[in-house]
Amino acid sequence: MVSFTGSGVVPFGLADVTVSPRISSGEQEPEYSSSIAVTLLEGTGIANNTMTVNGRCSNCTTWKSGKLDLKSSSQPWIFGLGPSGGSAAMLRSDSKTASIERHSKYGVFNMDMVHATGGSGELPTSYTTSQGSSSEGEEVKSDSNWPSIIHAICLCGALILLFPFGAILLRVFPKSVRWHWVNQTISTCLAFIGMVIGFYLSTQFTKSQSFGSTHQILGIVILLAIIAQWGMGFWHHRLHKKTQTGSMFGVVHRYFGFIVILLAIINGGIGLSWSYASNGVLVGYSITVVIVSVAIIGLLGWARFKSNHGGKGFVRQQEELDEFQSSDYSDGYLNRDSNRPHGYNRYG
Ligand code: HEM
Ligand code: HEM
Repeated sequence: MVSFTGSGVVPFGLADVTVSPRISSGEQEPEYSSSIAVTLLEGTGIANNTMTVNGRCSNCTTWKSGKLDLKSSSQPWIFGLGPSGGSAAMLRSDSKTASIERHSKYGVFNMDMVHATGGSGELPTSYTTSQGSSSEGEEVKSDSNWPSIIHAICLCGALILLFPFGAILLRVFPKSVRWHWVNQTISTCLAFIGMVIGFYLSTQFTKSQSFGSTHQILGIVILLAIIAQWGMGFWHHRLHKKTQTGSMFGVVHRYFGFIVILLAIINGGIGLSWSYASNGVLVGYSITVVIVSVAIIGLLGWARFKSNHGGKGFVRQQEELDEFQSSDYSDGYLNRDSNRPHGYNRYG
């Protein structure tokens, strides 16, 4: 498929349009092809909120995966527009190789190629209006970059909301290892779904097909870190059940968990600016991160303060105690961990 991407770079009225001829072989970002010769003709520009591109292409009748039938009176074409709307920043670039995002509107139309094919120079006179082209079936369909949105919701939801919440379940309420690992395991599954969609998304854009961007590399490091974190949490718990003492796995797990969350916050921000999210989305993301961080740090600090001052901030609740005492756990587990910092000698 040959496509022409146009973007306005100057405020309306000043008539500056960049045309980037691109080729695509499937449902993915069309890639700029410098070998396609397009000359812009008079009348090209932006006026009254409408972009007009009059162009003459001298070598676009055949390409690797298709061809145009110049004798057809109803040659099918497709078009895509956008993205536009609150969550995506408007593309304003004069670079022909600028990366483009998925369209927000698309559709099909037919063109009478006999009338659209002109001589060597000017526009075919019959084609100075849209006469000769017609849309087929449902006109313009709406679309969105939904894989990207689901990717962002799964990963930011799991890593920036649910993982920190897991620390609250362990330290503040209900102070339970069981609820901690249930929550962290569900969040890990959600993060995995987000990562799988991230890999699929990567195949759609020229910028991500080589898997070499900061966002993808950091994302893969975080993926490995989540697996290690889950393994260390599980192993520490298992060792403790056997030996009734703390382990290095527990200490590393405790601090590494916060490092993983911090890296995910940074990577979420990189992902948003990489996919040209609007300023409103970036500000919303930053405010959410600040509110969640202050709430989590405040609650954990409060629980620690209570524990340091002889409160019951880290004492296991009675129901859990009964269960743990009847298994190979005992309350002593919590007191015998010499690696645990002062004030962290008990948790449920
Ligand atoms: C990838 C998933 C996980 C993440 C991101 C995670 C995160 C954390 C964090 C941040 C802490 C420190 C909380 C604090 O000190 O306030 C912690 C502690 C802990 N986690 Fe996890 N966790 C995960 C999975 C697990 C699993 C599967 C278990 C298994 C039972 C587990 C067991 C524990 C235990 C026992 C502690 C206390 C360690 C200690 O203080 O000695 N975690 N976790
Ligand atoms: C902690 C891990 C990650 C987080 C928090 C994260 C978050 C995000 C966010 C918030 C966006 C912006 C989405 C939008 O504006 O609609 C994004 C975009 C993207 N992410 Fe991730 N991501 C992570 C890991 C990954 C991984 C491992 C990959 C693939 C290897 C990946 C591939 C992509 C791609 C290709 C985009 C661009 C989509 C576009 O341009 O529309 N991400 N990510």
